[in-house]
Amino acid sequence: MPCRELLNFNTKWLYIPEDCGNYSQVSIDESSFEKVSVPHTNKLHPHNYFCEHDYQFVSWYRRHFTAKEEWKDRRVAVEFEGAMIVAEIFLNGEKLFEHKGGYTPFTVELTDKLLWGKDNVLAVRLDSCCHPDVPPEGEIVDYMLFGGIYRNVNLVVSDRLYLEHVFISSHDVTEEKAVVKAIASVNNKMGSEQDFVVTHRLLDQDGKVIREISSREEQIAAGETKQVLCEFEVNHPHLWNLNDPFLYTVKTEISGQDNVESRIGIRSIRFNENSLFELNGKVVKLTGHNRHQNFPYLGGAMCDRYQREDADILKYQLGCNFMRTSHYPQAKSFLDRCDEIGLLVFEELPGWQFIGDESWKQLCYQNITDMIYRDYNHPSIIMWGVRINESLDDDDFYTKTNALAHELDPTRPTTGVRYLRESSFLEDVYGFNDYHLAPKGELRRPNYHPYFVSEYLGVMFPTKSYDNIGRQVEFARRHASSLNAFYRSSDMAGATGWSAFDYNTHIPFGHGDRVCYHGLTDIFRIPKLAAYVHQSQVDAKESKPMVFIAKYLVPAYFEDHEELDQGYRGRTYVFSNCEEVELFFEGESMGRLKPDDKAFPYLPHPPFVFEVPYTFQGMRETTHMEAVGYIDGKEAARFERKISVRARAVKLEADYSTIEANGYDLTRVVVSVVDEHGQYLPFCQLPVTFTLEGPGELIGENPLGMEGGRAAVYVRSTMETGVVKLTGKCRDLDSCEIQINFVKPNGTFVS
Ligand code: GAL
Repeated sequence: MPCRELLNFNTKWLYIPEDCGNYSQVSIDESSFEKVSVPHTNKLHPHNYFCEHDYQFVSWYRRHFTAKEEWKDRRVAVEFEGAMIVAEIFLNGEKLFEHKGGYTPFTVELTDKLLWGKDNVLAVRLDSCCHPDVPPEGEIVDYMLFGGIYRNVNLVVSDRLYLEHVFISSHDVTEEKAVVKAIASVNNKMGSEQDFVVTHRLLDQDGKVIREISSREEQIAAGETKQVLCEFEVNHPHLWNLNDPFLYTVKTEISGQDNVESRIGIRSIRFNENSLFELNGKVVKLTGHNRHQNFPYLGGAMCDRYQREDADILKYQLGCNFMRTSHYPQAKSFLDRCDEIGLLVFEELPGWQFIGDESWKQLCYQNITDMIYRDYNHPSIIMWGVRINESLDDDDFYTKTNALAHELDPTRPTTGVRYLRESSFLEDVYGFNDYHLAPKGELRRPNYHPYFVSEYLGVMFPTKSYDNIGRQVEFARRHASSLNAFYRSSDMAGATGWSAFDYNTHIPFGHGDRVCYHGLTDIFRIPKLAAYVHQSQVDAKESKPMVFIAKYLVPAYFEDHEELDQGYRGRTYVFSNCEEVELFFEGESMGRLKPDDKAFPYLPHPPFVFEVPYTFQGMRETTHMEAVGYIDGKEAARFERKISVRARAVKLEADYSTIEANGYDLTRVVVSVVDEHGQYLPFCQLPVTFTLEGPGELIGENPLGMEGGRAAVYVRSTMETGVVKLTGKCRDLDSCEIQINFVKPNGTFVS
């Protein structure tokens, strides 16, 4: 019997943004359907100033495929990783399944309904309207539930005696030894009782088998599911750590037939007697940010490449060792990347302030189950969120959600986020949003331990990438103060700021244009000045030496120098993880300083604060500023700004020059207008107009106005390989042309 086949079912879908009673039927006129790949948004939208009604409608997706004759004795199922919000699934005109809720996966069994060797039609009626009966909705929430089959779809072909899940956990972990427990859920769709043996093989990163263990022979009745536990010891395990996130592979098979691969990390987690978090017995102060899965133009329908990229931004650009998937389970590929790079995760059920009736709560229990089933094996996940974000107490409901999570996964602590200091504490860890005092150096503690601050700052000082420099520097300074307060606290396990990225939201929230500007980066993932405060907290040995001048080089005094009226000295902040920084104006040294550990005594790497002389009379026009960072007395990092005289050219920077021709892979292209030194112009709002030649698609506004001097579009592939040329033009400036290659995609696709 062949092994399990996991086929990519993302391509060759037909889509129509309207509802019609007969779209489930086999023979219909499909001429007005559009050919699409998923992840797919039911509606492309501008990055701001649009309305939720634009995407709140019913649409249909159809996919023709041949069920191969050789699959006849096998099990065939389709897995949807996420479809927003209510999906009805039909095969050859017959309704097979309905799923409510856009944030969790679902599997539809096709086996008994397929026409072998013939064309089959899978049709999805997707209702993306507002659903007060489905969490997180009920009342308005502060984020958008964009429509579409917005995550991957897979076709699974396996034996009919198959592995439904394999849950793997590590216990009694030390450097010498660890116990690994593997629970295999076996399902029998063979139609008769079966005998079977489960075998697990543990492989290291070179593919070498380190341990092999088999269960005793088991029996399973027809139509039943059976759980089989196997336990084995690993000597001298290579532990999963933040700086060395070592992943093992476990290959599980049943009697030489169905098989699945799981990636695991061997590590121990706990909150200790002092209420602090320990990874492998060592305290880790959890620092990070909240992430919404929202992208410009595409809403949630972003391919794996940029789901993964967000994890990298959090860890490497925003200095996180921890993040929160606010306020729902996020893409599988995002979590895979967190495992790979060593980024700890708190994942929570969908919800926002509102608690609904009994049937609404039933969906919450289902969401918790689906979340834990999907994500059990991720070493990066350290807590399950079992309360609706910022909801009031409901002891009966939360006793059940908490017990459910513990029953499904006894290895991880539970938590839940409140804005209240006093609330029924039913979980293991108290999540508390502290928006008030941290920037002033005070903490508002909840009444319970262990606790962590699940949100801080953004709401209190929203800052746009195009706000004036004074506000941007103040936003950065408040981040530094908040972090300082958190590091000072000896009993707070950690903190996640609100939020990593700007995101789209409904009118009552956000800042008037359907964008919430609480992020450390804008919605395009372009960093604001405050991002560098966090980046600079990571030790140079763990990342790399960096230095950043939080200032634009403009000869404007009031805007740029908040303290000008207090002695005509401008204050310039430099963020760096170096030991000393020297700042130069026109080549003249403004001093070589140590970090300001008087103002920020608890920060691992406080900002460097330079007092720079400016006078009204005879004020110099600064043309050149440079910061040099030193470690062990040697230059380790350098950052330079030069005065901009004129706009010179359009600049297009693609993150990737090669992507896959599958209709959903894409690359971001950062767009700016640059000066004669190649620097972007922070006050430029000029529109850039694009022309795209070749077999690709431009995703974004055209023309696109710069915000804070930069913005971004995406170039998405089609199913054709080839080269795409993207040109950006603006006024009489030099235009820019880049090329992106679309190559044959990886993976095995359903034909
Ligand atoms: C918090 C909430 C977040 C977000 C934030 C404001 O209270 O938990 O989801 O809405 O306010 O942006």
